[in-house]
Amino acid sequence: MTDDSSGRIAAALRAWIGDAPPGSRLPSTRALVTEHGASPVTVQRALTLLRTEGLVETSPGVGTFTRRPREARPSDFSWQTGALGAPARRIPSSPAALRSSGDEPFALHSGYPDVELLPERLVRAAFGRAARHDAAMRRAPSAGLPELRAWFASELAQATPRSATPPTARDVLVLPGTQTGLSTAFHALVGSGRPLIVESPTYWGAIAAAERVGVELVPVPSGPDGPDIDELARAFARTGARAFYAHPNYANPTGAQWSPALGDQVLDLVAAHGAFLIEDDWAHDFGITTDATPLAARDGDGHVVYLRSLTKSVSPAVRVAGLIARGPARDRILAETQAESMYVSPVLQHVALDVVTRPGWGTHVRGLRAALRARRDALVDALAAHAPQAHLASPPPGGLNLWLRLPDGADARHIAASCERRGLLIAPGDEWFPAEPPGPHVRLNFSGPAPDRFADAMRILGSVLAD
Ligand SMILES: Cc1ncc(COP(=O)(O)O)c(C=O)c1O
Repeated sequence: MTDDSSGRIAAALRAWIGDAPPGSRLPSTRALVTEHGASPVTVQRALTLLRTEGLVETSPGVGTFTRRPREARPSDFSWQTGALGAPARRIPSSPAALRSSGDEPFALHSGYPDVELLPERLVRAAFGRAARHDAAMRRAPSAGLPELRAWFASELAQATPRSATPPTARDVLVLPGTQTGLSTAFHALVGSGRPLIVESPTYWGAIAAAERVGVELVPVPSGPDGPDIDELARAFARTGARAFYAHPNYANPTGAQWSPALGDQVLDLVAAHGAFLIEDDWAHDFGITTDATPLAARDGDGHVVYLRSLTKSVSPAVRVAGLIARGPARDRILAETQAESMYVSPVLQHVALDVVTRPGWGTHVRGLRAALRARRDALVDALAAHAPQAHLASPPPGGLNLWLRLPDGADARHIAASCERRGLLIAPGDEWFPAEPPGPHVRLNFSGPAPDRFADAMRILGSVLAD
C-alpha cells in the first residue's frame, strides 16, 4: 500500500467527518480495512493524518472521534507589539511569484517552471540512487561536495576566454539556493547601512534580501537592453558604492541580455571603482534565441561574484546553487555561510550532481529551449491578439517572463486583482521596483501550466484593461 492509499482513505474520511456531528465515533480500524481493502498500517496512517489536521481525536482503547469544538479564549498577542517595537525595515512579504495557485485556471504569476519543463525522469532516478548512497546518512563539507564544486567551476571555465584564469573547484561554494546567497553576499560584501547599486526593476527577492541585511539600495534604471551605463557611472561616483547586483543574462523581470560591449563597460566601471559585480545568473539554462554568457568568465581579479542556481532548471525541490568568488571575498562568504546554514544536505547535492552529469541533461536543456520558445511565442501572439493595450518592448531572448508596460494611469495591483477575480493570476510589477515604479507594469510567466490556454488568459487581461 502506498501513501497515496492513506491519502485517499483520509480524503474519504474527511468527507464523512464533514457530515458527522462533533464527537461521532469513526468506523473501527477493522471496518476501514475491509471497506477500503487497505492494510491496518495504511488506515492508521490516514487516521494520523486526520489527527495532525485536528479533525479527530483518539481515546486509546475506546476509539477515534470527530473533534469537539474547544472553548478556548482567543489568543492575546498584544504583548508582542511592545516586545518587538516598530520594525526598523519592512521586508516585503507574500510576493506574487511565491503564491500557490488555488482553483484559478490561469496561473501566469509564478516564478517556477511547470513540471513538464523539468527533467523529471532524471530527478526521480537520481533521488533513488541518492537514497542508497552514503550521502543519505552523512553531512557534507561546508563549501559543498568536491565533485559538485568541480562541476560548477568547469561550467564557468568552459566560457572563460584564454586570456583569463578559469575558476577552480576551490572558488565554488554550494548554497541552499541563490536566495540565501544574496543575503550572504550582501552582508559579507556590502554590510548594513552601506550602498548597493541595483538595476531598477530588479528581482523582488534581492530587494527583500537587501532589506533584511540593511544595505541601502541605489537604483539605476534598466530597460530591454540592460542598465543605463551613464546612470550607473553616476551612481558609483555619487555614492561610493563598492557593489552592483545585476542580471546580465535574461534579467528578471525584463528579460534583457546585455550586449558584449555593455558587459565590458560595466566590468571596466566596476574595476575602476574597486567594486564587486554580484552577477545572478538565475536563468542560465533558459536561453531561447541566445545563450547565457556569464560576465564572471571574463573576470580574473575577483571583481565578479557569480551565482548560478539549479533550482528552477533541475527541480524546485532540489534547492542547490553554486556561488563562485575569488580572494578574501570567497573566505568571508564561506564564513557567513557556515554561520548561517553550516552545509547543504548532501542528498540534494548528490541529486543535483547526478542530474547535471548525465547525458540526458544536455538533451533536456536543448529540448527546453524549444519548449520555452514555443510558449514565449504563443503568449506574445495571444497578447497581441487579445490584450494589445499592454506593451511588450520586445520578446525576451531568454528567461521565463514577459514584462509588460500597462497604459498610463492603470493601477497594476488593481489590474492583477481584477484578473484574479476572473481566474487569471498575474504578478503586479510594483514588487520589482526598489523605489516608486515609474509606470504600471505586470509580469507574465510563460513557463507555468496550461500554455494551450494562453489565448483565454490574454482575453481576460484584455477585457480587464478595456474596463
Ligand atoms: C533573479 C533571481 N535570483 C535568485 C532567485 C532565487 O533562486 P533560488 O531558487 O536558487 O533560491 C530567483 C528566483 O526566482 C530569481 O528570479
